[in-house]
Amino acid sequence: PETGCLSIVVLGASGDLAKKKTFPALFNLYRQGFLPSNEVHIFGYARSKMADDDLRDRIRGYLSQSKEDIDDISSFLQLIKYLSGAYDDPKGFQTLDKAISEYEVSKSSMEGSSRRLFYLALPPSVYPQVCKMIKNYSMNRSDHGGWTRIVVEKPFGKDLTSAEELSSQIGELFEEPQIFRIDHYLGKELVQNLLVLRFANRLFLPLWNRDHIANVQIVFREDFGTDGRGGYFDEYGIIRDIIQNHLLQVLCLVSMEKPISLNPEHIRDEKVKDVLSKQERILKIPLSSSMVPLTCFVLPACLSATQVLQSVLPIKDEEVILGQYDGYKDDPTVPDNSNTPTFATVVLRIHNERWEGVPFILKAGKALNSRKAEIRVQFKDVPGDIFKCQKQGRNEFVIRLQPSEAMYMKLTVKQPALEMSTTQSELDLSYKQRYQDIVIPEAYERLILDTIRGDQQHFVRRDELKAAWEIFTPLLSQIDGGALRPVMYKLGSRGPAEADKLLERAGYVHTEGY
Ligand code: BG6
Repeated sequence: PETGCLSIVVLGASGDLAKKKTFPALFNLYRQGFLPSNEVHIFGYARSKMADDDLRDRIRGYLSQSKEDIDDISSFLQLIKYLSGAYDDPKGFQTLDKAISEYEVSKSSMEGSSRRLFYLALPPSVYPQVCKMIKNYSMNRSDHGGWTRIVVEKPFGKDLTSAEELSSQIGELFEEPQIFRIDHYLGKELVQNLLVLRFANRLFLPLWNRDHIANVQIVFREDFGTDGRGGYFDEYGIIRDIIQNHLLQVLCLVSMEKPISLNPEHIRDEKVKDVLSKQERILKIPLSSSMVPLTCFVLPACLSATQVLQSVLPIKDEEVILGQYDGYKDDPTVPDNSNTPTFATVVLRIHNERWEGVPFILKAGKALNSRKAEIRVQFKDVPGDIFKCQKQGRNEFVIRLQPSEAMYMKLTVKQPALEMSTTQSELDLSYKQRYQDIVIPEAYERLILDTIRGDQQHFVRRDELKAAWEIFTPLLSQIDGGALRPVMYKLGSRGPAEADKLLERAGYVHTEGY
């Protein structure tokens, strides 16, 4: 592992994202020893004027409240220094640079390289100017080497044109290996498990295609509304907030072709080297000898993901249902005539050999009756069913990303009794029961650690992002232009009834217990 001073700069340090996600994730890493105090310093940067202690007090309430953590919390907070400045002011970034350099000089005994990680917990509108400031005034210039990396949050753009413009602006300042586009769904345990599940289990290999799978649902539900984020949300809506990124990334992992082997022996194989060196030329990514084997599959995996996205057919109007919950417009920051969907069901169709004819139903909604994110893979009916049991339900493989991570397979079994009758039951792997002593890491925790390690496997590459916007931009411009309007649904309900009908039209067969 690399050594040397690590400076983590959280830009937008007083904002919601930083308080709720970034700093708590940093604390968890610190507590587990991934951010040793003799190597790491954290700088908060934002416009408001405040003292170091003010920022520390603001963060404290969001950190773990357990008694055992009290000492760790105090020492962690001492690592944080606050600097105020505008996002387009050279002076602010010169001051920041000075503070980082002073810290690095104070640690010169370490004789290591200087590592600078800039986490932009900011709205995308300021990304270009902030990146310019970092590039001009705050880059690592150490003689001992090291790096400067930036982490950017979604929404990365509002449509294809704006995303591409943003990519070019940032691309002129930083190389692709320096840019970490975070999609926190890629850091969730069960999302990270998807490739393992698909490609390490013989059981699934022959079944994972159009011959056996009837449809796939990727569902996100929240049981609260926009909760004070109405201003932001109204500009983006549920498709840009959840579907174009989080759910589409999950779709990629469910549907993409197998990336190259993870086996270190195979990684050294000629074939793999060819793929990597070809990609290296395209992306100018140096292959370092310190790469851990897992990292080596980042490029082909990204390629597979992009390929599947490029095979998605244009979305049909009749395969979209939009909704808006009653009361959404009561938020004073939401305009009275808002056309913004807080719910959407969209059917995507992948035009390739594996998936032709299989609907991928992406569904997301706020202010619904439950909070859940899951993938439901529904298999086709059994041909020549001698038990006449099909109406009890089809086989369905459900992967619950949250809450209470689990995966279960709905099977038809004999009802235990003297008589011969069938029933639906489940093969159930519930993480809480199975892995009682293991604390599942938070998505942000994992992803921030990846940024420090330089592992881009779970980050969105530029061409992948472009392909994602290509899918949704025509639909989004129809919504923005008012050609497609949301139907109203009750707060705390299942969402619009029209969405259930669309699901049935797409071929989903309800099973018991759903
Ligand atoms: C964010 C969205 O990206 O994800 C929010 O902007 C949403 O609107 C959140 O609430 C959901 O994340 P999670 O991890 O709680 O499912």
